[in-house]
Amino acid sequence: MPPESHSFWRETSLPSFPTLESSVHTDVGIVGGGITGITAAYILAKQNINVTLIDADVIVNGTTGHTTAKITAQHGLIYDELIKHFGFDKAKLYYKAMMEAKQFIEDTIKQLDIDCDYKKEDAYIYTNSDQWKLDLEKEKQAYDQLNIEHEWSKEMPLDIPIKSVLQMKNQAQFHPLKYLNKMVHACKELGVQFYEHTTAIDVEYNKYPSIVTKRGHRIKCKQVICASHFPFYDRNSFYFARMYTERAYILAIQSNKPFPGGMYINAESPTRSVRSTKWNGEDLWLISGENHKTGQGKSTRSHFKALQTFANEYFHVDQIKYRWSAQDITTLDKVPYIGPIKKSEDAVFVATGFRKWGMTNGTVAAKIISDYILKQSSPYHELFTPLRFKADPSIRKFAQMNADVAKHMIQGKLDNTRNNSIELARDQATVTRINGNRTGVYKDTENNLHAVDTTCTHLGCEVEWNSAERTWDCPCHGSRFSYSGEVIDGPAKQPLKQIDPSKLN
Ligand code: FES
Repeated sequence: MPPESHSFWRETSLPSFPTLESSVHTDVGIVGGGITGITAAYILAKQNINVTLIDADVIVNGTTGHTTAKITAQHGLIYDELIKHFGFDKAKLYYKAMMEAKQFIEDTIKQLDIDCDYKKEDAYIYTNSDQWKLDLEKEKQAYDQLNIEHEWSKEMPLDIPIKSVLQMKNQAQFHPLKYLNKMVHACKELGVQFYEHTTAIDVEYNKYPSIVTKRGHRIKCKQVICASHFPFYDRNSFYFARMYTERAYILAIQSNKPFPGGMYINAESPTRSVRSTKWNGEDLWLISGENHKTGQGKSTRSHFKALQTFANEYFHVDQIKYRWSAQDITTLDKVPYIGPIKKSEDAVFVATGFRKWGMTNGTVAAKIISDYILKQSSPYHELFTPLRFKADPSIRKFAQMNADVAKHMIQGKLDNTRNNSIELARDQATVTRINGNRTGVYKDTENNLHAVDTTCTHLGCEVEWNSAERTWDCPCHGSRFSYSGEVIDGPAKQPLKQIDPSKLN
């Protein structure tokens, strides 16, 4: 197993950009350089809109750089649920939006002549469980009602045991960084300004909004797009209480078996997802799954082990070339929040909650928000608006999620960690108490100790160690911090408090 977590996609280099060193004026300010932000910048710049895009890190290094990059409307089991909770028309609209996103990607590849390993593939959702077979049958009935082109079978090209499989025809896969690299170059030619290592911390209002950066500069604009995965700006909209975050794991393996084609995911838990890509002319199998709520669950390294066991059992692993993990956000009703952040604030737009399906949902979000900004009508505004709050399943889910948060908040405070003597091997972490305060300690590979107060700076839950990524992760709303306490993922904005390691015994 490779010692470091590193996404295969990130082997493709993208241009680098400066940090914002002064305040600027623009028409549209975009926060977040993933597929949503870059696609929106491209669409808007083509309409002669001035765009400035900033990223807290480097572009395409967040969820988009760590995806499985399936371009599909088959988002797990979803259509039966959508019909039940939103009705037939909206379920149909959801499917239409995803297929239009696929078409947009295909058209852009043609227009910009992008070589990004784009390949048409069918998508398969399968089960090997009698219990889940019933759910898969209901999903098949939903496909029938919605007229989604499909096949129902007991067999599929991938050689693993199954009871039933539902195949969605005419989907696709690609290399997301090759695709976005060319789009970034096109954006530059259209005049889009990019800044990296530039963190947005707030939005201020005068007549128009301004994005405020950590260094105190302003991006004065007419509209703001929050494409920062978790919205960096909330304005009492409580997005953190309306979504939950999960981590998922990916192995890229070489096998002595040729890949049979197709993109696969199972219906049951734990998730197992399989597709391939090309690496030096050979098939690289991408095996992913093992989702769990961020900051909750067993040792994160064990999730890679579980995927390795699965891959060994069915695909004869020659070598694991890469491993990485990703963070996904899910809304209460599983449909992303895309649109104005609040009724009273229609110059700030959010795009979040893509579950694991960011390639299509991110493209849909870019198109919908661009339509708002360009004052074009869209059939999708009502379905995706963040202002919706349906009684079912939202209320029930809301109560469950927040009960879970309360449980972790209380558990963290009651945790009976005592003062431990710190005897850590290199690259190990533990939790101890210093002067009664719960303290996370990590010993790095150079033998240096890093100690942080484990109280999350968002709303005070206690963070847990993520051994696979060497981060402190919050079980309540998914904030993540580096071992030295810097914010990696929000909603937290402030770092964990650092503790002087010399206070450790
Ligand atoms: Fe909300 Fe940590 S992310 S308390």
